[in-house]
Amino acid sequence: MEKNITTSEKNAYQAYKKYYIDRDYEQVDLFRLLRNEFNIASAVYPGSYIHISPSFIFPYVAYIDSDKDAIRFFKQGGLEEIVKRRKEYPEEPALEFHGTDYTTLIDAYQASFDLLISQYAGFVSGVCKPYLRDGGYLLVNNSHGDAGMASIDRDYQLVATLHRRSRKYQLSTASLADYFIPKKDIKVTRELLLERKKGIGYTKTAALYLFQKVR
Ligand SMILES: C[S@@+](CC[C@H](N)C(=O)[O-])C[C@H]1O[C@@H](n2cnc3c(N)ncnc32)[C@H](O)[C@@H]1O
Repeated sequence: MEKNITTSEKNAYQAYKKYYIDRDYEQVDLFRLLRNEFNIASAVYPGSYIHISPSFIFPYVAYIDSDKDAIRFFKQGGLEEIVKRRKEYPEEPALEFHGTDYTTLIDAYQASFDLLISQYAGFVSGVCKPYLRDGGYLLVNNSHGDAGMASIDRDYQLVATLHRRSRKYQLSTASLADYFIPKKDIKVTRELLLERKKGIGYTKTAALYLFQKVR
């Protein structure tokens, strides 16, 4: 880090570094890829913790997380400074944070965002769907079964898969119909996925999935 940094920025940077830089999980190239391919400028990230790298790429991002450490870090202010140093757009970054349960919807955010992000934070895709504008996108992994949930939600259509090879994300639109076919002969329902909480096995998988809100 450069000199002339505040203590809060230093603390925030150490935390961000520990969870995201040191684990090679910043995903900046992923967000850059999505911005370039889908013209995304705003995102909402329920269950974000302090994963602020979307703000390096998208000028307007709203983060929602009830974790007490996440609340402390966003309150301290250092995270915004990190964003200002790394942002890849000319305007001032707009970061909003809500230290609340994401299942309590924020009225002002209805139909506001180009992208909804769901990673390792439970079933975000359904409850936070109202935040997406018409034609907006859902970026989701299947760690908690949320990608599987989106795959059976008629409001969403799978439009791309994301794969990580040689530490770089790649987007594919090939063979989309081959994803979300269960390995076992079971009927996949919302209730089943809610109960399992870890998703089910599919014959073909990707690191992440991009769905579009189609209605
Ligand atoms: C495993 S962390 C993942 C953080 C981030 N998505 C990432 O990929 O690094 C899960 C986060 O989701 C948050 N979370 C889970 N359920 C939540 C809820 N209902 N409301 C707000 N935050 C929630 C937790 O507080 C935690 O910070």
